[in-house]
Amino acid sequence: MDQLAVEAVTGVRTGMVVGLGTGRAASRGVRALADRVRAEKLDLRCVATSRATEELAGELGLTVVDLNSVDAVDLLFDGADEVDPNLYMIKGGGGAMTRERIVAHAANRRIYMIDSGKLTPRLGTRFRLPVEVLPMARGLIERELEGQMELEGTWRQRPLAGTAAATDYITDNGNLVFDLTLPAHIAGDRDELYALDNDLKQLPGVLDHGLFLMECQTLLIEWTDGRVERRTRRDEA
Ligand code: A5P
Repeated sequence: MDQLAVEAVTGVRTGMVVGLGTGRAASRGVRALADRVRAEKLDLRCVATSRATEELAGELGLTVVDLNSVDAVDLLFDGADEVDPNLYMIKGGGGAMTRERIVAHAANRRIYMIDSGKLTPRLGTRFRLPVEVLPMARGLIERELEGQMELEGTWRQRPLAGTAAATDYITDNGNLVFDLTLPAHIAGDRDELYALDNDLKQLPGVLDHGLFLMECQTLLIEWTDGRVERRTRRDEA
């Protein structure tokens, strides 16, 4: 039994709208959900955060609907790339952060599932911070981030099939991703993190980014011995 995935979907009840995250951990949740739907004959509607998840959910027989056809999402489960002690997260390793945040904000309950290797004392230790950028704003955003904001980064690439070359990574929304190195003085300071969140969102041409400061209500951690720990968010002063 996949304990992490089972825990992630344990609060699902018939009649709910369930948000499905993106990535390996979220896919485990999707499979556990499909198992429950089959075994308990649950009547659910699901909203997916990426095309890949929509495809997987469809293959497993889950009903996937458009976010615009529901008033709210009852429960969302998703993965994360890094999580710090405040339950601040970096997401977007799979490029789905914009849709992931939209569905998270529509959700009444938000559960994130990680393995213990993703816990970090400070964000940006192992992962960079992805920023989704409209292609026409590429030059502008690069100048703003590297010049004005003095941040370093690179445009995400993907291998070009059948060759040794690489090409721009394109999100499900048709956009580019700029992966930023998160400086320690920002990552270690709550006010700086919120300021960065705000500054990035203010840039015309930036759709969204992978710094998720307010979303995580419940964190499920899978330790190497298989134990699953649940942490809940403390209210911030
Ligand atoms: C998708 O863009 C991401 O935000 C994922 O949720 C995150 O990268 C975690 O993915 P894994 O569970 O595959 O590590």
